[in-house]
Amino acid sequence: MARIRILDKEFDKNIPYERIEAAVRDMSARIYDDYQGRQPLFLCVLNGAFMFAADLFKHYPDPCEISFIKLSSYRDTQSTGEVKTLIGLDKDIGGREVIILEDIVDTGITVAHLVEDLTRYQPASIRLATLLLKPDAVQTDVKPDYVGLEIPNDFIVGYGLDYNGFGRNYKDIYKITDQS
Ligand code: PRP
Repeated sequence: MARIRILDKEFDKNIPYERIEAAVRDMSARIYDDYQGRQPLFLCVLNGAFMFAADLFKHYPDPCEISFIKLSSYRDTQSTGEVKTLIGLDKDIGGREVIILEDIVDTGITVAHLVEDLTRYQPASIRLATLLLKPDAVQTDVKPDYVGLEIPNDFIVGYGLDYNGFGRNYKDIYKITDQS
């Protein structure tokens, strides 16, 4: 589908699944190069990162664990700037090599908040892997260690990303149309 409608907005296909998959495989290989034998703990930030985390985790070829937390800061197409923890850590991350898995770093407010929060539990290290990065939108000094694709500052949905809860199910990524 080249164009989809979600609620009151229209979106055009922007990043096909094949490109996403290649970026995810490549990132998994880069992480493995850095972490082999170190049993990293992947920390998936729900909801948006669930598809990316599942794909990256499937491709990771060495012993590792995954855990999930749920944060939220978006309403409609804008960050509220306030990060809410809806589900917190269920695991002791003290002494662990933590790799945060995010679908997107937009303003960077969510991950900046998260990194500060996780530091209190004294992990051995914290790194950030994000499928997507909007370099022109970042407002914090967060620097992801692993980036799948850099994208312009457009609102997107699909592959786990949503518009007011809808659109996460598409395997490709779609960009909002100019008229929306
Ligand atoms: C999205 C996305 C990131 C965050 C990125 O989450 O999954 O966690 O926003 O934006 P930022 O860099 O401007 O903070 P959202 O709050 O929409 O919740 P969701 O993951 O449940 O969709």
